Amino acid sequence: MKLTIAVLPGDGIGPEVTKQAKKVLEAIAHQFDHTFIFKEALVGAIAIDKTGEPLPEKTLDLCLDSDAILFGAIGDPKYDNDPSAKVRPEQGLLQLRKSLGLFTNIRPVKAFDQLIDKSPLKKEIIKGVDFTIYRELTGGIYFGEKKLSKDGKTASDLCTYTEEEIERIAHLAFKAAQNSKKKLTLVDKANVLESSRLWRKVVTNIGKKYSDVALDFLFVDNAAMQIILNPKQFDVILTENMFGDIISDEASVIGGSIGLLASASTGKKYAMFEPIHGSYPQGKGKGIANPIASILSAAMLLEHFGLFEEAELIHKGVEKSLALKISTPDINTEHTNITTSKVGDFIADYIQYPEDSNLNFHNIHIGQSTII
Ligand code: IPM
Ligand code: MN
Repeated sequence: MKLTIAVLPGDGIGPEVTKQAKKVLEAIAHQFDHTFIFKEALVGAIAIDKTGEPLPEKTLDLCLDSDAILFGAIGDPKYDNDPSAKVRPEQGLLQLRKSLGLFTNIRPVKAFDQLIDKSPLKKEIIKGVDFTIYRELTGGIYFGEKKLSKDGKTASDLCTYTEEEIERIAHLAFKAAQNSKKKLTLVDKANVLESSRLWRKVVTNIGKKYSDVALDFLFVDNAAMQIILNPKQFDVILTENMFGDIISDEASVIGGSIGLLASASTGKKYAMFEPIHGSYPQGKGKGIANPIASILSAAMLLEHFGLFEEAELIHKGVEKSLALKISTPDINTEHTNITTSKVGDFIADYIQYPEDSNLNFHNIHIGQSTII
């Protein structure tokens, strides 16, 4: 298969982790005889520094002309503590999602057996957890009208949803549940918000067409608690934009590190793949960022194009790296010298020589590997 992939490394640790995902995709291309053409462009704070815009036109054009987008991370502390900043790096990501119509954000949450001790949650609570969050990505409070009064003392953000916006993602979430454990949980705040009541009405109606899927509802405050108390109860969670943002960070605690959670953002035409973590500016350039979320996002990219065998090999490589503790310090207290690029090298190497990697593991830990 021939694919043109726009690579948008962005800010902070974005470039480091994206480089590893690219490395892994290159190994896949080599192994399975695919042609992946990577084209890089600026986004976020680095784009503001260089062009004045968080999403330069050139970047958007490249995305519109590509088959898929691999996104790194966005954000810089110099904007976080400056409420008066007129342009912000995050606008780049939000404009990209909106311009490409990426209304569905899919965030799989899984407890890896190899990391069962790394989560602050008890083993018996997280063992076997495997659910997926379907987060609406182009509507709600993120994109509603924003107002600041002239005297600067009153502000508001409007949360709007239309029936159509709810329907299109609801169908996808129901289908995902049909292919999984046949349970869909709508997370909302229907006891308070009108927009949530519309979600409930529309999703209940659509649910009639998916009679094999058990539909239930949770208020977001309760859902936040249930994700920690009993995460095994979930299969597919469907929710609006901001609730999805919040509960997905919370859910990352189950896996033991936010550096493990991948995501796919899809629309009718375009698709973008990005780790759920941020730009982690404190970790920039230190080689400590976990590249697994970015690498698993690359696997989601392959699945999107039906390349399931290829994606599976990446998953196996990731699991092997976890089992052999070829992991960054966020999940590895034993070997603290394993860098971001060593993890990428190992997984790329595994893809080319799946049988050999045990040998390389011993070499890596005694520092004699040829692949590092
Ligand atoms: C995410 C991020 C973004 C969001 C930020 C960077 C705008 O937190 O992808 O979850 O809030 O959607
Ligand atoms: Mn987030």
